[in-house]
Amino acid sequence: MIIGGDNEELAGYIGRQFESDELLQEQVHLDFNAPHMITVCGKRGTGKSHTLGVLMEELMQLPRAARDNLTGLVVDAMGIYWSLQVETREPDLLADWDISPDDFPVTVYYPAGLEEKYEDVSEYFHEGFELYPSELSVDDWLYLLDIDETQAQAGLLSEVIELTEDEFGSFYGLGDLTQKIEESDESSNVKEALLRRLEKAKSWGIFSASGSRIDEIVTGGDFVILDLSGAGALPWNVRTMLTGILVRKMYNQRSFERSREEVSRIKGQFSESEFPLIWLFLDEAHLFAPSGSKEPSTEPLVEWVRQGRRPGLSLVMATQQPGALDSRILSQCDTLIIHRLTAGKDSEAVGDRISELHNTRQISHYMEQIPKDPGYAYVMNDDSEKIVPVKIRPRQSWHAGGSAKLEEYLNLTESS
Ligand SMILES: Nc1ncnc2c1ncn2[C@@H]1O[C@H](COP(=O)(O)OP(=O)(O)OP(=O)(O)O)[C@@H](O)[C@H]1O
Ligand SMILES: [Mg+2]
Repeated sequence: MIIGGDNEELAGYIGRQFESDELLQEQVHLDFNAPHMITVCGKRGTGKSHTLGVLMEELMQLPRAARDNLTGLVVDAMGIYWSLQVETREPDLLADWDISPDDFPVTVYYPAGLEEKYEDVSEYFHEGFELYPSELSVDDWLYLLDIDETQAQAGLLSEVIELTEDEFGSFYGLGDLTQKIEESDESSNVKEALLRRLEKAKSWGIFSASGSRIDEIVTGGDFVILDLSGAGALPWNVRTMLTGILVRKMYNQRSFERSREEVSRIKGQFSESEFPLIWLFLDEAHLFAPSGSKEPSTEPLVEWVRQGRRPGLSLVMATQQPGALDSRILSQCDTLIIHRLTAGKDSEAVGDRISELHNTRQISHYMEQIPKDPGYAYVMNDDSEKIVPVKIRPRQSWHAGGSAKLEEYLNLTESS
């Protein structure tokens, strides 16, 4: 069975159907041919991140010609998806599933200025990424540096940004900004306060002059992981800001590219895509687009899910709290993968969504039946009337997102 499409070659094997707690032979595939907006939800430890990993593995196993025209882009705020590069350490789990252990060639980017922190793990964390300070608006800066627009520092900042841009255009570094602050006639305590804040921004390592530009990391055929955990050095508002900028840039570039493709097609020409289709993965999505408050990533993500189908942009998100996710995003999803949820706001958010589409029994009915082990889910798609019970398949590569258990250290001491 293929959920959300009918092209067998361009679908991914996500698991097998179950009935009560019995696993059936029927394989379930998910369509990758059309763009999709997929939400994976469930309470803690029910297998959401693992499911995202399965979808990533399947995308990377599409036929070569399809893969060459798409990029998988993982915004990895927890730093757990690098382990796609390592074969599963539990190959026995794969018996009966018709798959073999495998490792996947992904490129992992980290904030370029934090290279030293990543030195010990450079085998799996490959390249630095960076941002030009000019990519941030004055408002972005005020948000990042936590400055109120009525503060004198805000006036000084907007003045020096304007001066620096007049002099250097888009190509300036943090050092140019600090120099302009030092040269300013503003009082020394305002200048010093602003310089201290910019010093902090330097420690995030994203304004380095040595890495790859954030919009240059997406090329067809690649699978890219952006490690925004930044070895713990990136505050949360920096992560959502980076995600917002990235999502907006990808959206704009891909939309333009789509228009170019359409023009060529009208003229009867075949043109190779210069900017690939994108499958964006976002774990813990409610932190990037929360309901109730606004993050810099909220509007770019809403735009992505609302308008992404025409240019060929897909989104796979996971969240423990669908009820805490901006409702404009949940309402645009065409596919829901629902792991076990407890009663309350989160079940209700998903239940509302299901009954809106299917007029079926309430979510609680399904949640009473779902087995307690991780990996069980109900999958539904707008195009079909059915809600399909699926046990998600084991991972071919290692899932680094499981719990750290104390016993691991016991084994370590015993063997040393
Ligand atoms: N389909 C599956 N088959 C076998 N084991 C699974 C499956 N899905 C998850 N697991 C196991 O369950 C554990 C929890 O999975 P995972 O980390 O994906 O949960 P999660 O829902 O993302 O949790 P959290 O909300 O804490 O992020 C992991 O150890 C993982 O290996
Ligand atoms: Mg998780």
